[in-house]
Amino acid sequence: MTLWQGRLQGGMAEELAALSVSLHYDRQLADDDIRGSKAHVDGLVRGAILTPAEGEALHAALDQVAQELSDGTFVAVADDEDIHTAVERRVTEIAGDAGAKLHTGRSRNDQVATDLRLWSRRTLAEVASGVAGLQETLFRRAQEAGESYLPGYTHLQRAQPVLLAHHLAAHCWALARDVDRLVATIHRLNVSPLGAGALAGSSLPLDPDATAAALGFAGRFENSLDAVSDRDFVAEALFDIALLGVHLSRIGEEIVLWSTEEFGFCTLDDAFATGSSMLPQKKNADVAELSRGKAGRFIGNLTGLLVTLKGLPLAYNRDLQEDKEPLFDSVEQVLLVLAALRGMFETITWNTDRMKAAADSQDAAAIDLAELLVKRGTPFRQAHAIVGGLVAEAAASGTPFESLVSAHPMLGDEAVALLAPGVAVTNRTTPGGAGPAVVQEQLTRLSERLAEEQRAISTLP
Ligand code: ARG
Repeated sequence: MTLWQGRLQGGMAEELAALSVSLHYDRQLADDDIRGSKAHVDGLVRGAILTPAEGEALHAALDQVAQELSDGTFVAVADDEDIHTAVERRVTEIAGDAGAKLHTGRSRNDQVATDLRLWSRRTLAEVASGVAGLQETLFRRAQEAGESYLPGYTHLQRAQPVLLAHHLAAHCWALARDVDRLVATIHRLNVSPLGAGALAGSSLPLDPDATAAALGFAGRFENSLDAVSDRDFVAEALFDIALLGVHLSRIGEEIVLWSTEEFGFCTLDDAFATGSSMLPQKKNADVAELSRGKAGRFIGNLTGLLVTLKGLPLAYNRDLQEDKEPLFDSVEQVLLVLAALRGMFETITWNTDRMKAAADSQDAAAIDLAELLVKRGTPFRQAHAIVGGLVAEAAASGTPFESLVSAHPMLGDEAVALLAPGVAVTNRTTPGGAGPAVVQEQLTRLSERLAEEQRAISTLP
């Protein structure tokens, strides 16, 4: 039996039912749907639309449905198009006449928007906590890294040495912005659409402010058309996850490179590596690769939803049902990635000798030679040309760079000292830079930022 059997005769075509059904995925909204229905029932009792006894009967029926859904005894029937239909159908079976009053003053349009906001509020907080967990591990590994250093890269060419701690902290700062965005999205979505009805409100004495408060929302919608149409929060959540996914992909790509024999900067724990079904010697960085790979899916989910929304007029259109699968998918998948990456970083071994050997190339100190000339009064552009010329000459002639530096009238011993292993990184002394003194300051600031994040997450609605 459909919810509109008074208007349309003879039931839905099988093909339409197959296209329309969403119960297999929107079951995820069950808890939120039941919570929303209880708040709605209480509102109807307060408005004297239901008697207190009917209200109680509905609460009991909703509790029973929740129980059946959670213990797996809920039996769906053919006409259970979505979770909202299924719950209402079962409540009516249990509570009889009172059940038939559950949907008074409500539409699935405001109901589904309410459910999805409640769902997003809960699960985006889990995502934010997952990010914070990964940051915690990266931060601890950064603290433990001491003064180990490796080449920093631009264009994937060795550029200047940086502390390993600085490198790991860089990822933490990007993730901190992801947490900020998730927290802001949660606060912005925390508005109740319940009471907007199908699109225009109701003639019944509903109190959307009270139902909003009962559901822990910061307030109610201002405009019923906007309330049932607005999926900005889904798009924002998908963007937050897509950009987070891009950051996780960058981390993944790096570990893929670093764990190769060619780089050899790290060794994955066996528990966070995979082998080959054919090649006995292989040890692969699948966690890192999947972290990189999922980003494509997150971007696809965002793009798909934006395209769906783009074609729609006000207010509710059935296209909006397409909001759920991408959202559920992105949230589920990013939680998996965050947990696996965290485990990978908990157990990874840094091969700091390999890092050091790669970073200790004398070329990496080229900028320090140019800056020595600057300190002695040479304009930078000229200094750059002088040192660049020596690098080119060393490469062309096979003469050691150090000898050329030593012999150059404007360079000499003080310059040669800058080429010694480990010196270049200590010269990165400006705030936020890659050298030991300032990285220590940075880690202090980062730990404050992480504590602020924790506060923001723990005070989420
Ligand atoms: N399952 C639908 C959705 O997710 C619920 C709303 C249906 N409303 C309607 N008027 N057909 O969007």
